[in-house]
Amino acid sequence: MALLKSKKSITITGKNLNKLGTKAVNIKPKTTKKIINRYHFLIKCRAYIFQLLGIDLIKTDDEEINNYVKSYLSKNMKNVILDLKFEDELLNLRKKYQKNKKLSLHDKDTLYSILDFITKEIVDNGGLQKYQIASIMGQNSDRGGDSSKKLMEWILELNDSGKVFRDMKTLEIGCLRVDNILSKHKYKKFVNSIERIDLNSNHPEIKKEDFLLKPIPETNEQKFDLISCSLVVNFVPDENKRGEMMRRLKKFCRNQGLLFFVLPLPCVTNSRFTDDHVLVKNIMERGLNFKLLKEHKSNKIAYYLFQNNNSVYDEIFLHSNHGSRKNIRGKPGMNNFCITFG
Ligand SMILES: C[S@@+](CC[C@H](N)C(=O)[O-])C[C@H]1O[C@@H](n2cnc3c(N)ncnc32)[C@H](O)[C@@H]1O
Repeated sequence: MALLKSKKSITITGKNLNKLGTKAVNIKPKTTKKIINRYHFLIKCRAYIFQLLGIDLIKTDDEEINNYVKSYLSKNMKNVILDLKFEDELLNLRKKYQKNKKLSLHDKDTLYSILDFITKEIVDNGGLQKYQIASIMGQNSDRGGDSSKKLMEWILELNDSGKVFRDMKTLEIGCLRVDNILSKHKYKKFVNSIERIDLNSNHPEIKKEDFLLKPIPETNEQKFDLISCSLVVNFVPDENKRGEMMRRLKKFCRNQGLLFFVLPLPCVTNSRFTDDHVLVKNIMERGLNFKLLKEHKSNKIAYYLFQNNNSVYDEIFLHSNHGSRKNIRGKPGMNNFCITFG
């Protein structure tokens, strides 16, 4: 793996492929959390700097982005500012640089240096690959396991209560492993085919594809009966692209189809801009015309199962009510998670 600091080749299942190659990578639970949080933080800062510098990058491959930044900096960065306190700069990015303000040459040099710092850290720490390994390990130790366990529990409940959800053509977005509960043979009568995609594939059955660039289905045949989007929207660093992801979930889902949607709990319980009302009532129900069927909150995770009412949705409502960030509550220590439709 080019991006890993270690020269050893590691698969997503944690297997070390070099030479004798089956030793599992062991990352402590505390460390997995650190790796995940730090990666999210860095890519969010990077996305914000891209916006400030007017870089509209379509690339989503981790390595391609890093290479793009390196060549961008080699063309543009004239003065490296060495005495920056990078952590302070990262924490205060939004306060210090507002999107509509003109950047001075010094501002630009500072942003280039921060971008350089971010890119080096991402590369040195193993990039998306390492993040994914930490996520898999985090699934087990930190979050109470594979989220598709909840999905299958709900599908069984719905079928028991007389609603028929069988033979579902399924799309799993942000797929880390092909042996999760959703993929179990015993559930084949419910989930008859699964298309698995991820920005970074670690298995031949996971297609390397960005959902944000996936061609929009033109026919009902091309759409899905079940879409799993677990812990993916919070990964997208730009809030407007999160909105675009939500629109796309709508466009990929058949009428009466299901959407399994999962977020880290603090996205709805501890955000200045998002709570259950905003997400469920406003964005999903009123805006995107989904109906909430099931909901569960664990200590760390918020799980939802929505059903698509029909293909109509209200772009005007979404744009006028959720076109940009709106503060719904503000207390120290809250996060800034939000989904916008600008
Ligand atoms: C935290 S992991 C979640 C994995 C798994 N779904 C789960 O619930 O544990 C997020 C995954 O989403 C993938 N991802 C993020 N944005 C994506 C996009 N636009 N298209 C496809 N995959 C994406 C990332 O590469 C990463 O592997």
